[in-house]
Amino acid sequence: MSFDLRGIPLDATAVRTLAAKGLEYRLVDTDDVAAATAWIEADFRGFHHARPRQVSIDYDLGVIAERRVQGVYDSSIHDPSIPVATVSSWPTGLSVPGGRSVDAWAVSSVTVSPTHRRRGIARALMLAELENARAVGAALAVLTASEATIYGRFGYAPAARAATVHVDRRRTHWIGPDAPGRVHFVDAADLRRIAPALARRAVARTPGEIDRWPGILDRALGLVDPDGEHSRRRRVVRYDDEHGNPQGFAVFQVVREPNEPGVVEFDFLAAATDDAERALWRFLVEQDFVTGVRGLLRSVDEPLPWLLEDPRAISVSDVADHLWVRVLDPVGALASRRYGTAGTLAIEVSDPQGHAAGRFELVVDERGRAEVERTDGAGATAAGSTPGIRLGVHELGAIFLGGVRPSVLARAGRLTPSTPRTAELADRMFLGQRTPHLSIWF
Ligand SMILES: CC(C)(COP(=O)(O)OP(=O)(O)OC[C@H]1O[C@@H](n2cnc3c(N)ncnc32)[C@H](O)[C@@H]1OP(=O)(O)O)[C@@H](O)C(=O)NCCC(=O)NCCS
Repeated sequence: MSFDLRGIPLDATAVRTLAAKGLEYRLVDTDDVAAATAWIEADFRGFHHARPRQVSIDYDLGVIAERRVQGVYDSSIHDPSIPVATVSSWPTGLSVPGGRSVDAWAVSSVTVSPTHRRRGIARALMLAELENARAVGAALAVLTASEATIYGRFGYAPAARAATVHVDRRRTHWIGPDAPGRVHFVDAADLRRIAPALARRAVARTPGEIDRWPGILDRALGLVDPDGEHSRRRRVVRYDDEHGNPQGFAVFQVVREPNEPGVVEFDFLAAATDDAERALWRFLVEQDFVTGVRGLLRSVDEPLPWLLEDPRAISVSDVADHLWVRVLDPVGALASRRYGTAGTLAIEVSDPQGHAAGRFELVVDERGRAEVERTDGAGATAAGSTPGIRLGVHELGAIFLGGVRPSVLARAGRLTPSTPRTAELADRMFLGQRTPHLSIWF
């Protein structure tokens, strides 16, 4: 997808709804440093962060320059230049089962000032983002959520989970295969040159991951504020295969009190191959003078327990919903991914906001490739007696990447299969080769 993000007109419904509350919904010109800085300050305040230092503002100015940035303004407040609500959004690829990607619309920085909460401002912004997503032809919208109770009402559903993985160093004995290549400590700025390509390959391997933007790599590598304490702590390692070609990298730090063994903590591991993934894990879990390892936003389905003699060396905490998906165009979304088995399934979707509502037929061939057709409306072919499922847009988002089985939602009474066998068929069809996982916040 490529277009002028600022060229999308402001959603007229949001303009009207907010104007009726005495508020102005505005596109923020990110070249206007004063306006963009005020927006960034509101965003920081909205998430209860400390006031941003100049280095953070400069970093964010770079990031939001590539995004559509909107604010809500109240001319009656003490400083009307600071928006009372913020939101930003941008087109992104979302990895789907089968090593492919679908055009998605990422939504971030949703904040409403505590002075203006619960007046329907977030609702107006979120509904407008669905219109923006449609305007650019995105098949679905995606976000990560601070609280799990906010976004279901707008059709989003948890579609990929993440967890904190802890490894007890004393019980770590590697039994996995030796990787044929080597792990090297590398300079972060050097690695930055090849990081986008490595990250792209890593992202493509896992459904649920979204494209990395330049700023997130700068920050992960500690290049944003290189003299800051946070950046100075970060160490970067790269895995090169047996031919010397880089295949992955990890960024970690050792958190420790003086004279105490530390804990290896990492939040960025990009592996383009299985060898790279194993070698980087092994490097991280085999450090000395540490009590263990803490991997943040890891998959709930890591291969690690199969690589250590004692799988109980590993514990998992903070398992949570992480990526939320809101399907807008079921045909585009369903056709974008590969499926676990051949079959034909009628899918009837209800959607309170209308976008995804309709009847569709999903036909998957022996190679897992899908053809999707709308079967209601003018010119549609009738689905006839095809076995099918009925579900809401929320449930469609939940099963889309294979993160939950349709039969589980049927047991929860949230999806209706035409027969029990149909739920089994849907399970087999929607199953992906890899458990969906998103390893960043956005
Ligand atoms: C979340 C937030 C943006 C909501 O803003 P708001 O303008 O008060 O929300 P609205 O008045 O438009 O409420 C919309 C609906 O969401 C519900 N809602 C809003 N915030 C909620 C929350 N934190 N938990 C549960 N429900 C919430 C409202 O009750 C309302 O429900 P209804 O329409 O079904 O009656 C605001 O509370 C906020 O800025 N929180 C801190 C930052 C944050 O967590 N942002 C989310 C980033 S992922």
